[in-house]
Amino acid sequence: MVQRFEGRVAVITGGASGIGLASARRLASEGAKIVIGDLTPELGKAAADEVGGLFVPTDVTEADQVEALFATAVEQFGSVDVAFNNAGISPPEDDSILTTGIEAWDRVQRVNLTSVYLCCKAALPHMQRQGKGSIINTASFVAVMGAATSQISYTASKGGVLSMSRELGVQFARENIRVNALCPGPVNTPLLKELFAKDPERAARRLVHVPVGRFAEPEEIAAAVAFLASDDASFITASQFLVDGGISGAYVTPL
Ligand SMILES: NC(=O)c1ccc[n+]([C@@H]2O[C@H](COP(=O)([O-])OP(=O)(O)OC[C@H]3O[C@@H](n4cnc5c(N)ncnc54)[C@H](O)[C@@H]3O)[C@@H](O)[C@H]2O)c1
Repeated sequence: MVQRFEGRVAVITGGASGIGLASARRLASEGAKIVIGDLTPELGKAAADEVGGLFVPTDVTEADQVEALFATAVEQFGSVDVAFNNAGISPPEDDSILTTGIEAWDRVQRVNLTSVYLCCKAALPHMQRQGKGSIINTASFVAVMGAATSQISYTASKGGVLSMSRELGVQFARENIRVNALCPGPVNTPLLKELFAKDPERAARRLVHVPVGRFAEPEEIAAAVAFLASDDASFITASQFLVDGGISGAYVTPL
């Protein structure tokens, strides 16, 4: 494996599971020191141990905990070269606007959108001091497409992540800090399996829109994260980086 992250440090929120875990493994395999911030201590610690990194128990909705996460990375390993702000939730109470209550709306906004604001706010001063950095914020393909199977707060939160990332990418471009919004299509992770993949009918309703005819594997998203995090993406910033199996480009898909 090419060692694109030798001597670099990556902070990954939501690194205990799914896309975050696959990305921790991928970045570590290319030489990065990994710091995982996650709510779940057992899985988070296991993930960090597996990749020879550090686990910092973190609720990404709490400003002081987020600041401590990035400060710990600098204290322990010397820098924050990559911030993969990826923790997110998709609870069943977040559904049609007609049935979604304000509590569910607020919770999803806090975990999916406010957290990205807090993580970028905490990571940027370290990157400014270093004179470099790559921030990757996990949005979603639903930030650019509408779904009749609505999750209204989730979709709105990801739209917010997308436009915030674009603006930060523009604002900090001349400080050698890149900020991109990663927009995955549906991925085989616990989040998606819990939501609908275990129900064949609900899965089929979605799969028909995917030109490649399947959901992504977390490792395929992790490969894109590693690319965006690396110097191979040195001219890519403020982008909506779609890794979606062609969904957003499709009208009629193959039978
Ligand atoms: N799975 C998909 O199909 C898909 C598609 C597009 C975008 N996404 C996005 O990708 C990201 C990762 O999703 P995933 O599928 O890997 O999910 P996942 O459920 O497998 O992992 C999410 C992780 O985030 C952590 N987390 C949740 N709330 C937290 C909080 N308050 N503080 C700290 N950590 C918290 C969880 O403990 C978990 O480890 C999310 O932002 C999700 O919205 C997922």
